Amino acid sequence: MDLIETLRTTGAARTFTDQPVDDATVTALLDDARFAPSGGNRQPWRVAVVKDTALRRQLAELMRPVWNAYVGAGSGPHAPFAFGRDIDAPPVAAPNALLDHIADVPVMLIVAADLNRIALMDGNLDRPPLAGGASIHPFCWSILLAARARGLGGVMTTFLSRAEQAAVSLVGLPADHALAATIFLGHPRQQLTRLRRHEVGSFTTIDRFDGAVFGG
Ligand SMILES: Cc1cc2nc3c(=O)[nH]c(=O)nc-3n(C[C@H](O)[C@H](O)[C@H](O)COP(=O)(O)O)c2cc1C
Repeated sequence: MDLIETLRTTGAARTFTDQPVDDATVTALLDDARFAPSGGNRQPWRVAVVKDTALRRQLAELMRPVWNAYVGAGSGPHAPFAFGRDIDAPPVAAPNALLDHIADVPVMLIVAADLNRIALMDGNLDRPPLAGGASIHPFCWSILLAARARGLGGVMTTFLSRAEQAAVSLVGLPADHALAATIFLGHPRQQLTRLRRHEVGSFTTIDRFDGAVFGG
């Protein structure tokens, strides 16, 4: 696939056909994604390919309350779990295509990051650090793009990150590692290609963030 076309049309896929994805394909995706950039080229990623269905179900039960809380928080200007915001709405038990069928998803990858290998450039500020994610999430997105190039689809999720402490022993997360993302992959039942995204002019300004609109 043409790269620009891929960038513009790779939507989240959460339901998959029964067609399996073999280990060689998963290896190939990771082999492509390992060329992602990271600060100092320290490549802080670790990947667990979760095959054990009992383990998957245990992990789904950790993710489910996070999902229910997320849904209960509803939509609004602030994301659920946004910094400095409490969720005061009750959780809503909502269906979730991934969690409800977690044993059947062809591929489940948990990506962890070795915090010792990430220079936390904004770690000293009076807000949660963010820039460190730039050393691990390009790798995650490269997995998704590499999958799309092979006719696969999937989605990057972070709900397990919220349950990281409970997941540590289940997945053997090493000390000083963080759960960066859980990625689900397979042959998508539907691949969304007309994606809803804001126009460049709505988020880009000249010189300063209160500057004149750029690219509008
Ligand atoms: C950092 C990040 C976290 C995400 N977490 C979740 C998640 O926990 N569960 C989920 O179903 N999708 C998750 N997604 C997928 C987003 O919901 C999806 O990318 C977005 O809604 C755009 O969907 P579209 O590409 O189909 O338009 C996440 C995406 C990113 C980039």
